Amino acid sequence: MGLIVPDAIEGYLANLNHGGDPLLDEIARKGADRKLPLVDAEVGMLLRVLATAVGARKILEIGTAVGYSGIWLARALPPHGMLLTMEMDPERGQEAQENFKSAGLSSRASVIMGDAQRMIAKVAGPFDLIFQDGDKKLYVPMLDRLVALLRPGGLLVTDNVLWDGKVVPGYVRSATALAERDASAERDETTRAIAEYNERLAAHPALLTTIVPMRDGVSISVKRG
Ligand SMILES: C[S@@+](CC[C@H](N)C(=O)[O-])C[C@H]1O[C@@H](n2cnc3c(N)ncnc32)[C@H](O)[C@@H]1O
Repeated sequence: MGLIVPDAIEGYLANLNHGGDPLLDEIARKGADRKLPLVDAEVGMLLRVLATAVGARKILEIGTAVGYSGIWLARALPPHGMLLTMEMDPERGQEAQENFKSAGLSSRASVIMGDAQRMIAKVAGPFDLIFQDGDKKLYVPMLDRLVALLRPGGLLVTDNVLWDGKVVPGYVRSATALAERDASAERDETTRAIAEYNERLAAHPALLTTIVPMRDGVSISVKRG
């Protein structure tokens, strides 16, 4: 059972959101076979809904992988809109480009290969929406630059902010009867980095933030005007 959303609820939501997009379904299936940490279709739809709601014309994504979430985002763009998406693994970036092409989105989606922490210094905003789904330990170091790249009223959306419940001290232990001696696993480096990020988001003077406890936790922050 998932530790945040019970399997039955996840199954119900998945059935409702069965849009029947063969390309996305195939990318998700192949990704699951390779254990790639892609968002699921519900988070994909959340991204598309949010991008549509803010009338996004320019979107930045950190962590492309093979382009699954990027396709959801790019589908919300108008014909001359643009998704810039950053990936440090060249093979994944190449595969993402091919997937964008198969989705008919090559003109609206551009993969920037390299270390996003360095690349974000070089891109020009403002962006209407930024999706942060890269290295969790870089969430805090990248935060202020990403906020600077957002337009007022724009959204910063971040995946995995509940980290399977590990950001809540004692929760995983109580939910899984994890032995006391294994409890340190709850507070590993990545968990601490995400917990710190959530605190930064909550206290950030330029942001209003809510966390949606779907899948692995998705934060949605709007930049104040
Ligand atoms: C969780 S996956 C992204 C999944 C993708 N957003 C999706 O749902 O379809 C994270 C990706 O970020 C990439 N990554 C990690 N650190 C990075 C960095 N510093 N710069 C660019 N990409 C990075 C990894 O190679 C990995 O492919």
